[in-house]
Amino acid sequence: MKYNPFTKLFLILATSSHAAASAILFPLYIYPFQDVPCGGWTDVIDTVKANPNLPFHLVINPDSGPGGLANSQPNSDWTGCIPQLKSANVKLFGYVHTTNGSQPQSAVNANVTTYAGWSASYRPHGIFFDESPVTAGANLTYMQALVGHARSLFGTSSPVILNPGRATDPGYYSFANLILSAENFYSAFSTSQLSFSTSTPASKQAVVLHHGPAVTDSNLVRELVSTDKIGAIFLTSQEYTTIPPDWNNFVNLVQADSQ
Ligand SMILES: *[C@@H]1O[C@H](CO)[C@@H](O)[C@H](O)[C@H]1NC(C)=O
Ligand SMILES: *[C@@H]1O[C@H](CO)[C@@H](O)[C@H](O)[C@H]1NC(C)=O
Ligand SMILES: *[C@@H]1O[C@H](CO)[C@@H](O)[C@H](O)[C@H]1NC(C)=O
Repeated sequence: MKYNPFTKLFLILATSSHAAASAILFPLYIYPFQDVPCGGWTDVIDTVKANPNLPFHLVINPDSGPGGLANSQPNSDWTGCIPQLKSANVKLFGYVHTTNGSQPQSAVNANVTTYAGWSASYRPHGIFFDESPVTAGANLTYMQALVGHARSLFGTSSPVILNPGRATDPGYYSFANLILSAENFYSAFSTSQLSFSTSTPASKQAVVLHHGPAVTDSNLVRELVSTDKIGAIFLTSQEYTTIPPDWNNFVNLVQADSQ
């Protein structure tokens, strides 16, 4: 057989991939324009580029949804800054909410359709469904239909994150890429609240905690990232409307524990 340099290159690429690291999941509920264009996001843009091997899932949220009228484009504060967040290690998610399965399906779908209609340079990769339900039965069928609608527009393998903020029926794991099985005040969380199984694997779970200590709890990061190999985490001493003051240290801890 003749030597084929392309086959060789492919083998090198295929075998050099790292073990999957935990991602950082930032509910980036920050208006991009602060003092200067994109000033509210500068620290995130810089950190993403400085950590090219670490996956980042960033949730874009203009106004508890895409903002504006149905099928509209966002204003230039968004269209100018979202492209700066995009990078090979970033997945961007458009925010919608289901209020525990009580939002009309048509209302959620309309917002998803609006995000999908954004021009390619600032369109998200997929959807983040906040306040998603947890029970089997009608709520599960509803959520599956919403995700089906999103994937019909963003692509059949487009990423989907569900945020019930607590444990769900395992059925939700069959169609979600990631589920926030805990979203809480830092002081109300314990790792004993998490449960992992083949149908609810750690790699598909995320933990997001707010109002934590000023300096990130490095033992908790190590447990979630090194021991549990959780899919994604976010820890902040604040709410989601500011960059955590300890942001760079937090990211460095996740990076170090992902080795
Ligand atoms: C849809 O988006 C609008 C505008 O951002 C928002 O006010 C509304 O709450 C959203 N509804 C849902 C169900 O996501
Ligand atoms: C969803 O239901 C849970 C459990 O009943 C409740 O704690 C929570 O406040 C509800 N969330 C919303 C957005 O209605
Ligand atoms: C989901 O469950 C909640 C709480 O039981 C209920 O109010 C809501 O109507 C359900 N939604 C659907 C789509 O079945």
